[in-house]
Amino acid sequence: MATIGILGAGTWGTALARLLYLNGHSVTIWSAIPAELETMQQTHRHPKLPGVEIPDGLRYTPDLCTACSGTDLLVFAVPSVFIRQVAAAAAPYIAPETILVSVAKGIEPETFFSMTDVIRDAIGETANPLVALSGPTHAEEVGVDLPTTIVSASDDPAAAETVQRVFSNPFLRTYTNSDVRGVELCGAMKNIIALAAGVSDGIGYGDNAKAALITRGMVEIARLGEAMGCDRATFYGLAGIGDLIVTATSRHSRNNRAGYLLGAGRTAEQAVQEVGMVVEGLNALPAALGLSKRYNVELPITFGVNEIVHGADPKTIVNRLMNRAYKGE
Ligand SMILES: NC(=O)c1ccc[n+]([C@@H]2O[C@H](COP(=O)([O-])OP(=O)(O)OC[C@H]3O[C@@H](n4cnc5c(N)ncnc54)[C@H](O)[C@@H]3O)[C@@H](O)[C@H]2O)c1
Repeated sequence: MATIGILGAGTWGTALARLLYLNGHSVTIWSAIPAELETMQQTHRHPKLPGVEIPDGLRYTPDLCTACSGTDLLVFAVPSVFIRQVAAAAAPYIAPETILVSVAKGIEPETFFSMTDVIRDAIGETANPLVALSGPTHAEEVGVDLPTTIVSASDDPAAAETVQRVFSNPFLRTYTNSDVRGVELCGAMKNIIALAAGVSDGIGYGDNAKAALITRGMVEIARLGEAMGCDRATFYGLAGIGDLIVTATSRHSRNNRAGYLLGAGRTAEQAVQEVGMVVEGLNALPAALGLSKRYNVELPITFGVNEIVHGADPKTIVNRLMNRAYKGE
């Protein structure tokens, strides 16, 4: 049995806390918003996961010291924009042997750091093993034990295998991968492509256009990844094409939904408000544009989504992406 702290009580942190508890581990969940914890403790429900029952026996705390102390594994499950501040605040309470697991999907805009890079940087000189856990995994499905796969990626094979062992159960098959950078890049970039797929739906285009955007989007992500030195195989695995498929097509995907709303004429602010949960594809855009420049790699769909977010007509942009070779910005 492992002792595990989960930092973040959003849908993903909650679904993972439930899974890990039912796997037989001791689990404490922390949130920056104490009212969130009180609701879960009292109702055994998360407001955004209506069909998911939260078991008795999970522990809740608004105190980072309690959540981090004595843990074998610490799971960072807050949205990407909060990762740095949460890691910095948690740092004094993290033992050097605790395995730090990031399940957030994003790239820090100022540094282009991946989420495990941000955690390492925020914690300071640390020998803690770091693992990125990513794949086609909607909380809504993991929370009711629908079959799912996920990738445990780390430079430290023993840490990747520990995470594999701790998370695996008959409903969750966990693979290991040493290409952390590739796995994390896929997790961030696929949300942007999912926005594009949603935009296409929102305009009223069909499955043909969506399939084209998803496929060309995958090529775009892989092109950037290869320029960054990632392993090509990662892009065509579960953390790559697997996660892109689920994010760009699932009714559970808030990125896809936000894209749909943009395609239907809402502004980015209206779309985020209507979705009511973090839309990581929008957060990832500035870093993606920066990486495109740094590595001199064309990302036409990403650029197109950025234009739409800044007020361009969605139909004009998608028509351009579908109909003629991209000429660069
Ligand atoms: N939901 C999923 O199915 C899923 C699956 C895989 C990965 N992820 C990733 O997990 C991360 C978290 O996503 P989510 O879906 O749980 O988000 P969410 O929108 O459900 O949760 C947001 C949570 O952020 C936390 N929060 C809000 N303000 C904060 C602050 N100031 N400081 C610290 N924490 C604060 C709160 O606990 C809040 O519930 C994202 O990066 C997402 O891409 C989500």
